[in-house]
Amino acid sequence: MDTDHTNSTNNKRTSEEIYKQACELIPGGVSRNTIFHQPYPHYISHANGCYATDINGIQRLDFGNNMAALIHGHAHPDIVNAVIEQIRKGTAYTMATEAEVLYAQMLCDRTPSFEKIRFVNSGTEAVMAMIKTARAYTGKPKIAKAEGAYHGTYDFAEVSQTANPTNWGNVNQPNSVPVANGTPSSVLNDVLIFPYNDIERTLAILDNNANEIACVIIDPIPHRVGLMEGNSQFIEAIYKWTRKNGSLLAFDEVVTYRANYGGAQKNYAVKPDLTALGKIIGGGFPVGAFAGRSDIMKVLDPREIKLLFPHSGTFSANPVTMTAGRIAMEMFDKEAILKLNTLTEKARGQINEAIKIADVPVSISGTASMFRLHLKTSTPMSYREAYQNGETKYLINEMLDYLFFNEKIMMINTLTCMFSTVMTQKEIDMISQALLNMFKRYREQLYTLQK
Ligand SMILES: Cc1ncc(COP(=O)(O)O)c(C=O)c1O
Repeated sequence: MDTDHTNSTNNKRTSEEIYKQACELIPGGVSRNTIFHQPYPHYISHANGCYATDINGIQRLDFGNNMAALIHGHAHPDIVNAVIEQIRKGTAYTMATEAEVLYAQMLCDRTPSFEKIRFVNSGTEAVMAMIKTARAYTGKPKIAKAEGAYHGTYDFAEVSQTANPTNWGNVNQPNSVPVANGTPSSVLNDVLIFPYNDIERTLAILDNNANEIACVIIDPIPHRVGLMEGNSQFIEAIYKWTRKNGSLLAFDEVVTYRANYGGAQKNYAVKPDLTALGKIIGGGFPVGAFAGRSDIMKVLDPREIKLLFPHSGTFSANPVTMTAGRIAMEMFDKEAILKLNTLTEKARGQINEAIKIADVPVSISGTASMFRLHLKTSTPMSYREAYQNGETKYLINEMLDYLFFNEKIMMINTLTCMFSTVMTQKEIDMISQALLNMFKRYREQLYTLQK
């Protein structure tokens, strides 16, 4: 082995030096674009609770929580201990584990719409399997999804996630816009795009394709659309439409399962037929799951004479993830959720106060344990209103850098914060003060952006 490249304990390389090597090996030096940063990403040393320390020994308050995946912050001792115990017994086997069954029981007990559940390895995989389950059950090819909504990177699920004013078309019938170059037109033809929370337009779009839709996918609080709540009339109207037209209501709760005990779906009078999960249910390890009605999930049952959807995955339901996830969700009980949501509500109040004091054209959206800032006076109601043009993105990046380097705070790159249960009033005061400082510093640029 080339000793220059080994990462020994004496490694004194800077992030810039490590990144230089990374670029020779990995496209852009990163395996996921979310952590890419100009001119180079900063490399982590270790993290504990809600603080992460980089290789220069600089500690930062972490509101990214690995893109909303760490509900108890980093290295929670109860999860670490349980995982170490499991790892000693092996990490993955060509046999079933009881850990999978125990965790399945817990999640199905928690959410009434989960009659059956299957585990996979990521949110992307969960959404993909959910869509394929819906197709297998209904025998229909198309799906419908909201413009701008992020559901992972499955070809069909990612359509129009990055739609922009040059290609999104008429809001009455938004274009199906590819994300990756070379996406087959057959994929685009099988994905219908609707404007989130817009009942009239959405129903008209669905009606135009009434007999062909396997499922309508809804994220009840879609981060990329603007982190606004799906209003109950909208969700109920889609539910009714799916009943009438032999289609399924499929929720993407990969992020929003944190919102309530049993998920954001507990906030509505209607239940989804299928749900995709991920992030927090892995307790810090790679995970996905999809769950729903027994009669639908039967398409996956290998005991059936005609198996409609054959489904497997080498690391699916591995006992490390199953153990970590179960411990994490055990600790994320009703009391913990209420406490976390109340703390985040307080943070949103303090940040609104900071916006007023600094007198800046900024608004805040979000609910439960999440918020997102928007560089405009009124909170956006749609993806098109929340859309960030080049100038806005540039200013957001400057602000994120200011927070990272000056205030020692990490946020998600849309100016979003995802809270964890290890946070307290101290951290809420830290972010409120940091944002107040940031608003004052960028006040002029924020107003220039409005012109
Ligand atoms: C709502 C939603 N669905 C699906 C996914 C995909 O999950 P993963 O990154 O685990 O593949 C994400 C990831 O951010 C997400 O936010």
